[in-house]
Amino acid sequence: MTDLSERRAFADALARDAGALGLEFQRQLGTLAIESKGPQDFVTEADRAVERLIREAIGKKFPDDAVLGEEYGASDGTSGFVWVIDPIDGTANFIAGLPLWCVSIACFVEGRSVVGAIHAPVIGDTYTAAAGGGTTLNGAAVTARAVNDFRQGSIGVGFPGGEAGADSARRVLAFCQSVIDSGGVFVRPGSGALLLADVAAGRLIAGVEPHMNAWDCLAGLLMIEEAGGRIEPYDGGTILQHGARIIASGAPLFDTVRPLATEAFDG
Ligand code: IPD
Ligand code: CA
Ligand code: CA
Repeated sequence: MTDLSERRAFADALARDAGALGLEFQRQLGTLAIESKGPQDFVTEADRAVERLIREAIGKKFPDDAVLGEEYGASDGTSGFVWVIDPIDGTANFIAGLPLWCVSIACFVEGRSVVGAIHAPVIGDTYTAAAGGGTTLNGAAVTARAVNDFRQGSIGVGFPGGEAGADSARRVLAFCQSVIDSGGVFVRPGSGALLLADVAAGRLIAGVEPHMNAWDCLAGLLMIEEAGGRIEPYDGGTILQHGARIIASGAPLFDTVRPLATEAFDG
């Protein structure tokens, strides 16, 4: 087994274990302490407990790897591999009792994401990818949609809560207007990681968000590339610290969606 297939299998199993723990918390929502980090920006004990489970498993299996997680930050390693994790992506959905949330785990080395696993426990979907090894949804290979017209599917959009959310939402609104003008439709799933995974799986024809953090996007971006889609190239030297702008789609649509998103986001 190569190093990547071992890490892929590990991430796959770990995302499912972590998702099962998250689901236990969601089933007891009434007793869960919810803290507000800002407007529309929440964190719960579930986010922290799930991240601790993931970090402990990585520490046992790959003790020389580094970890970057949303809730507990960065810990150093010596191998060059960095695990980048969002224990619960879609926390606003999670605390509302909605099904669209997931665990996202990526493994990053030499400026690239090389392994990704995303698990949505309520829905029961697990997506995985490895560099050079394709993308799967529930064990079956998937490909991004090969359409070149906005009228042939839905485009996923996102913007965060918190203080930065309002400005981001204004830019996304401008993008949505141009999607509508082109005969398209859009959805805001409320989980950036699932949005990207669903572009990889061909369920959405494109996905855009003015900014995502590394833990939101690194697994999903690899999935899109490995499913034959296109992503706006990211800076491997800065994405862990600063995140990236996200524009992604099936390959034929990319040269249409990218200028529209760029215009809306820069405006
Ligand atoms: C957020 C969600 C949201 C996206 C934001 C993320 P969280 O993550 O993925 O859909 O628009 O950019 O920060 O806070 O639920 O982990
Ligand atoms: Ca997130
Ligand atoms: Ca999160």
